[in-house]
Amino acid sequence: MGDNALMSEVLELVDVSVVRDGRALVDDVSWSIKEGERWVILGPNGAGKTTLLNLASSYLFPSTGSARILGEQLGAVDVFDLRPRIGMAGIAMAEKLPRGQTVLQTVLTAAYGMTAHWQENYDQVDETRARAFLDRLGMNEYLDRKFGTLSEGERKRTLIARAMMTDPELLLLDEPAAGLDLGGREDLVRRLGRLARDPYAPSMIMVTHHVEEIPPGVTHVLMIRQGKVLTAGPIDMELTSRNLSRCFGLPLLVERNGDRWTAQGLPLT
Ligand SMILES: Nc1ncnc2c1ncn2[C@@H]1O[C@H](COP(=O)(O)OP(=O)(O)O)[C@@H](O)[C@H]1O
Ligand SMILES: [Mg+2]
Repeated sequence: MGDNALMSEVLELVDVSVVRDGRALVDDVSWSIKEGERWVILGPNGAGKTTLLNLASSYLFPSTGSARILGEQLGAVDVFDLRPRIGMAGIAMAEKLPRGQTVLQTVLTAAYGMTAHWQENYDQVDETRARAFLDRLGMNEYLDRKFGTLSEGERKRTLIARAMMTDPELLLLDEPAAGLDLGGREDLVRRLGRLARDPYAPSMIMVTHHVEEIPPGVTHVLMIRQGKVLTAGPIDMELTSRNLSRCFGLPLLVERNGDRWTAQGLPLT
């Protein structure tokens, strides 16, 4: 059972490292997330972003250090009790899902913690919820389409609806906008922005390489480079040209336009 004093902590990593083949993929990371916060993780390819999400989803255990997720200590809790409380939408999940299942079935099966097997007797309540999540993500027209025939953007939106289906307390999105065209990206960012601003939506962590993909409503940013956290805190304070330049290793100018962000490389002088 959760420790009451820590129930508002969604995630608490203390001195966490993940070591593979003698190399620290995540290197002595301390990071804490409180209920209701919406985080974005920024960092170059190979920085350790997905590894951090795998820790947060309890699919990976720290080599050293301590990880607490939704008030439960990793290592002291049955992960099969913990995992249904966490929604994860990433590439790895897409590959596990049967291509022949319809979009509606793909989302519905999440309610039963399965990646396959369509049952006849789904609850009407579940079906209503699945349709509502798909509607919210603009997938109304695709309910009967086979998952395997969807475009990348449609697949991503289906996966997010699927991740919402278990009513998670923590939602993890790994590069949700990667590979989308401009229209698809803007549509998704707008929908994620609505989710981020919904006070009833779960706490959220989203990974991206691009500040243009940060949805309105994101409250915090963590920057990671070579497994080490460079900065973590309120986005208004931490998403600066100086920090982003250090993170990506070249001079960058970050600008905020209303509730969106842009970044560009500075000309060499
Ligand atoms: N199971 C593993 N064994 C060894 N190295 C790994 C493993 N998984 C990931 N890596 C490496 O760890 C680094 C961080 O990976 P990852 O977290 O996927 O980065 P990101 O998501 O930021 O691009 C990369 O260099 C990657 O090649
Ligand atoms: Mg990754």
